[in-house]
Amino acid sequence: MRDQFNRDLNYLRVSITDRCNLRCAYCMPEEGVEHMPHDELLSYEELYTVIDEFVKLGVKKLRITGGEPLVRKDVVNFIEKVASLKQLNDIAMTTNGIGLVELAEPLKKAGLHRVNISLDTLNPERYKYITRGGDLNIVLKGILIAKEVGLKIKINCVVNKGINDDEIGQFIQLTDTWGVDVRFIELMPIGQNIKYAQDHFYSNELIIKQFPDLIPVIAEDPSSPARYYQLEGAKGKVGLISPLSCNFCAYCNRLRLTPDGKLKPCLHSDIEIDLKNALRNNQDILPLILQSYEIKPEKHLLDEHKMIVRQMSQIGG
Ligand code: 5AD
Ligand code: SF4
Repeated sequence: MRDQFNRDLNYLRVSITDRCNLRCAYCMPEEGVEHMPHDELLSYEELYTVIDEFVKLGVKKLRITGGEPLVRKDVVNFIEKVASLKQLNDIAMTTNGIGLVELAEPLKKAGLHRVNISLDTLNPERYKYITRGGDLNIVLKGILIAKEVGLKIKINCVVNKGINDDEIGQFIQLTDTWGVDVRFIELMPIGQNIKYAQDHFYSNELIIKQFPDLIPVIAEDPSSPARYYQLEGAKGKVGLISPLSCNFCAYCNRLRLTPDGKLKPCLHSDIEIDLKNALRNNQDILPLILQSYEIKPEKHLLDEHKMIVRQMSQIGG
């Protein structure tokens, strides 16, 4: 179904938890963020009800996010339930990859198609530093298993100036050696990280200048926020996601659901529609969902320095 700016909103991103087993410097303060109480989170039944309603309205693509979605109990059963909605032709997950060693195979069997894995460094010491304690080798093992069981993989890398910008070349090489797409996401000012994001922002334009052997490829999907490039002969592509320097709102096809049951028509706006109360009072959620199509903003105001208050881990990226 289309919104008032003629965008076909066929992509729903559902965050199933605000918890995470890592504490990436750009995403969370060291002490973590206060967690939502358990009864504030939508149950899997409630999540399914919402997703089902969206599917009836024409949503074809679903992404499960967090926090870290693999830390929520019984996530495999939930994926299996969701995969029974045959109109969904793309079921994906964004994960930090820590849980993949154990869960890649059952997730694939349950019906998950793809995983986007967040990976900002290939150096174990540095991984520990950026994520405040994570073990890179577990993630690398998980990536191998995910590949083996047939999940499609993309790597998401947030470049932080002065921290991992010396690894951009190595990440680009992965499109050849691993044959996967690698996407560089510009650091966004979100929640409480504004000072950090200003200090460590690294523009994707710089990557293009530094690596002239990247050849632009024609976009297959105009709603993708990434512009794609390729190294000659490499199987995977290099994607550049530039929410700040390049405004792709006109092609945005997505809506988001937060773990506490709020619909967010735009990542960079504080506008939210509460579905949880309606769900718990047995009210029809359809009119509320339709409202989200009406109020999705035409574009974000990031460059006017209008920042939002929720943390990334409370939205799901
Ligand atoms: N800016 C850009 N990307 C971010 N992510 C988390 N916080 C930010 C931010 N402030 C990324 C994670 C992950 C995805 C969910 O979003 O690294 O790849
Ligand atoms: Fe966890 Fe992802 Fe945030 Fe890192 S960026 S702390 S992995 S939610």
